[in-house]
Amino acid sequence: MDLRPIWPFLLLSVAALILQNADFAVATDHIVGANHGWNSGVNFTQWAANQTFYVGDFISFRYPKTGQYNVFMVNQSGYDNCTTEGALGNWSSGKDFVELKEAKRYYFICGNGMCFNGMKVSVKVEKLPAASPPKGAANSKSGARSVISRWQTGGWVWLAVAASAALALAMPGLLV
Ligand SMILES: *[C@@H]1O[C@H](CO)[C@@H](O)[C@H](O)[C@H]1NC(C)=O
Ligand SMILES: *[C@@H]1O[C@H](CO)[C@@H](O)[C@H](O)[C@H]1NC(C)=O
Ligand SMILES: *[C@@H]1O[C@H](CO)[C@@H](O)[C@H](O)[C@H]1NC(C)=O
Ligand SMILES: *[C@@H]1O[C@H](CO)[C@@H](O)[C@H](O)[C@H]1NC(C)=O
Ligand SMILES: *[C@@H]1O[C@H](CO)[C@@H](O)[C@H](O)[C@H]1NC(C)=O
Repeated sequence: MDLRPIWPFLLLSVAALILQNADFAVATDHIVGANHGWNSGVNFTQWAANQTFYVGDFISFRYPKTGQYNVFMVNQSGYDNCTTEGALGNWSSGKDFVELKEAKRYYFICGNGMCFNGMKVSVKVEKLPAASPPKGAANSKSGARSVISRWQTGGWVWLAVAASAALALAMPGLLV
């Protein structure tokens, strides 16, 4: 059997699969405090209220690596009382990425007493919504937007595959 007429189709299918899977790995990185970063004088409660966090997203803490600031993942008591005993994790690179792996509430505080100055943030992480985007999601929060763009990218890739398949079937000589 002569496979030549369909090789562009096979090639594109493989490319589409790779692209789709790569696209799935794309997660939102929520930069704590946005352009203010991890700093005192930022209301992180307000910052967190303005975004949607989904499982698989990242939260990242950006600050000068001078030793003044750091990041501790704690539980609710640690958050409420600004204590780092029994911390679930700690970071101090100045560019700390933390993956939000579970659908639960996460608590982060700064050590060195800075937590008492308001350097604490708690985020509620939600399960990824079902694949098809809900109506009106485009004007909702950032998480929903990224789901839509995933869906759109997938749609375009499959359209390209379908078009090339049709072309290959209609005019086998053209593509080889
Ligand atoms: C941060 O903002 C929230 C909501 O606007 C407010 O309730 C809270 O008191 C503020 N926190 C600080 C430390 O200013
Ligand atoms: C929340 O996000 C909107 C749109 O991105 C922005 O206009 C607004 O200033 C933000 N509010 C806060 C408190 O960050
Ligand atoms: C920490 O805060 C919690 C409230 O979330 C309180 O019940 C608890 O007694 C406090 N723990 C310590 C060690 O201060
Ligand atoms: C948080 O962790 C501390 C230290 O491990 C523990 O004593 C406390 O009971 C925990 N609090 C919650 C709400 O899980
Ligand atoms: C920070 O985390 C490391 C493990 O990653 C641990 O060995 C260390 O005790 C932690 N430091 C504090 C102050 O909790």
